[in-house]
Amino acid sequence: MTILGIETSCDETAAAVVVDGQQLRSSVVASQIATHAQYGGVVPEIAARSHIEAIVPVIKQALGDAKLDWADIDGIAVANGPGLNGSLLIGTLAARTLATLRNKPLYGVNHVEAHMYAAWIDAASPKFPVLALIVSGGHTQLVLLRDHGDYQLLGQTLDDAAGEAFDKVAKICGLPYPGGPSIDKAAKLGDSRAFALPKAKTANPLDFSFSGVKTAVLRAAQLAVGDDHKLPSYELPERLTEQQKNDLAASFQRVAVETLVDKLETAAQAHSPASIIICGGVAANQTLRAEASRRLGEVIYPPFALCTDNAAMIAARAGFGLEPIEPAKLHVSPTLSM
Ligand code: KG4
Ligand code: ZN
Repeated sequence: MTILGIETSCDETAAAVVVDGQQLRSSVVASQIATHAQYGGVVPEIAARSHIEAIVPVIKQALGDAKLDWADIDGIAVANGPGLNGSLLIGTLAARTLATLRNKPLYGVNHVEAHMYAAWIDAASPKFPVLALIVSGGHTQLVLLRDHGDYQLLGQTLDDAAGEAFDKVAKICGLPYPGGPSIDKAAKLGDSRAFALPKAKTANPLDFSFSGVKTAVLRAAQLAVGDDHKLPSYELPERLTEQQKNDLAASFQRVAVETLVDKLETAAQAHSPASIIICGGVAANQTLRAEASRRLGEVIYPPFALCTDNAAMIAARAGFGLEPIEPAKLHVSPTLSM
């Protein structure tokens, strides 16, 4: 089954072609990072408008790169939630229109669930039961998959998502947006024991909480420049030295990574999975990959380009059995849960 995937849930306009859920034929991602960087985060109205401009060329390029035309496409899959309302609307309406015009089956895909399917692409198939850690800018979940579409949510974040914490800590330290890759880079030059930061305790040991460590980084930074909690955070970037920034990044990253791997290890001991997956934007983090593989043995990671948002994972999810939906009945669902 050859599926065209479409993804517009946040700030990347993406289209891809995947055969049978696993063979990648093309993956096009038009990132708006440069546009949003000047605001320090995603501006929803700008994101939606940028999707409108990019969606048609991106879909055309995905078909062109795959050297396919519409006759070769067996179905269209689109992320219809969760995400930003205006952004989701553009991809969903494009998919609905194309499915109607080209008379193709249409599949609505849960974006967070799809992140796991990046691990099926061009790789050895994960074996069930699969334990998955999904760590992105908007989500942090531990999921036990018994089969495709048959899963149990073991834990999730109670406040900030893992990627969101990387982004916020980067902002405190004055490191460039998006924060995850900046922290990853700065941490390599820092001392991960320079600052003592707390690990949150949660009632369900498989839940996550990152807002405490984020605030602890803010307090540590205020103290490091010789001030107190009244110092506005926007004054920190110019007062922190490069070494202090690198040390804060390394210390935060160590605690964040240890927390993620601690929980993954606890879940693995409880559920004895046949395969373990780490996916989502934060799965691009080098220290997380090294630490998880060191402590858990074989862990499957999607290719780097498919950790962050892309449409290949959307097409892959639809390749493993979803019921088609009538185009007029597919609506966006910004708060769709797993
Ligand atoms: O999956 P994704 O592209 O978007 C969402 O669905 O949210 O994830 C984006 C998140 C951002 O918070 C970004 O800072 C983080 O992934 N990220 C990283 C790295 N690369 C991206 N976090 C840590 N280390 C990285 N190398
Ligand atoms: Zn995502």
